[in-house]
Amino acid sequence: MANVAVVGAQWGDEGKGKVVDWLAERADVVVRFQGGHNAGHTLVVGENVYKLSLLPSGIVRGTPSVIGNGVVLDPWALRDEVERLGEQGVEATPDTLRIADTCALILPFHRDLDGLREDASGAGKIGTTRRGIGPAYEDKVGRRALRVCDLAHLDDLGPQLDRLCAHHDALRAGFGEAPIDRDRLLADLREIANFVLPFAKPVWRDLNAARSAGRRILFEGAQGVLLDVDHGTYPYVTSSNTIAGTAAGGSGLGPSAVGFVLGIAKAYTTRVGSGPFPTELDDETGERLGTRGREFGTVTGRKRRCGWFDAVLVRQSAAVSGITGIALTKLDVLDGFETISICTGYRLRGEELDYYPAHARDQAEVEPIYEVMEGWSGSTAGARSWADLPAQAIKYIRRVEELIRCPVALVSTSPEREDTILVRDPFAN
Ligand code: GDP
Ligand code: IMO
Ligand code: MG
Repeated sequence: MANVAVVGAQWGDEGKGKVVDWLAERADVVVRFQGGHNAGHTLVVGENVYKLSLLPSGIVRGTPSVIGNGVVLDPWALRDEVERLGEQGVEATPDTLRIADTCALILPFHRDLDGLREDASGAGKIGTTRRGIGPAYEDKVGRRALRVCDLAHLDDLGPQLDRLCAHHDALRAGFGEAPIDRDRLLADLREIANFVLPFAKPVWRDLNAARSAGRRILFEGAQGVLLDVDHGTYPYVTSSNTIAGTAAGGSGLGPSAVGFVLGIAKAYTTRVGSGPFPTELDDETGERLGTRGREFGTVTGRKRRCGWFDAVLVRQSAAVSGITGIALTKLDVLDGFETISICTGYRLRGEELDYYPAHARDQAEVEPIYEVMEGWSGSTAGARSWADLPAQAIKYIRRVEELIRCPVALVSTSPEREDTILVRDPFAN
């Protein structure tokens, strides 16, 4: 029996939330291990739509949920989300939700800095979610961060707070901003500490105990491999490692804790924010994908850029993330297209490439080489078994598998939880 890690295989928004919620029925615990509330995971259960940013998607089913040490935690965003879900009838209590006491905190000046930098970057801006994710990770790696466990020791911060404020005050001065109001920061932290501390635990102990007891652990990735700070389209990436290898380190388990890596990929491609996108369609077809796929960001409401499936990128994601099987989502969005193109390689200054080059200029200049397939006139929307799929849709899935050199384990055919085809059970492998 394997534990399962779910990771996005493209630029995020592949449908991880839906798949994690679906798999959570078979899991004993769901763990977020990186990122923060830059994520936006949508779950549709009957009439109800749940939008989760920080809370693991298992919480909607009541599956015990953990926020691991690799996550950067905005405690105010946490409280808002817990309250919002409470209004929808989903309870997150210290019994059902545990937060690593070692998570680095996102503080208000991280959010300020994220916005100030974006505003000052003009055409070079990354198009971040402006949630303070990058600045918080910088402080963590710079050994200046406040962590969840510090909330229990706010009177003893002393030189730690001096160092953090000195660093940020210099940056703020560069933008013409006032220094951090320390009294206000401490008062705000005191207030929010009462909310956060009951959830704070050394979660690595629970997770290791769960593992020893043979419980099924489901790791929920945020963002996607192409936004990984090492393997993605740098610098147009997020500030964490989004690959499956982070699941263990970001939760306090050893590398062998992850068995099956389920990569989530849309049947086409989207991206939100700046950065290269070889198969982007700036035309009617791109509009049609966006309209049919309702491609607007969960977190920021921004319109997502759309294009054809890029097999080169997903093959690369599968390799660097050790993906065992793919969940192919949003197949229904391709219903009714007369022809469907798949990118099978790139051309760069006369040369053919079967991988995505590292340099930003080359990434921007590669031209996709397409293979064109016939579409299907039947519908895949809502299909729940392989037999419900038009023959041509099956052909498309088979061709995708060949090109990315990875089998399809699940197919998703609508936003609704149960509109899912199981080809190979990730927990049974
Ligand atoms: P995540 O960030 O990877 O969890 O994905 P998002 O929730 O940000 O975006 C995926 C969007 O597609 C959400 O609105 C989902 O409800 C929706 N979705 C997921 N799977 C499918 C599918 O198979 N078909 C369609 N049409 N929509 C889907
Ligand atoms: P989920 O988990 C799509 C993108 C931002 C921006 C870049 C850096 O819903 O798939 P950041 O705020 O992280 O510093 O922004 O990363 N980005 C996402 N795009 N889905 C996400 O999460 C994303 N999280 C960050 O748009 O381009
Ligand atoms: Mg999303």
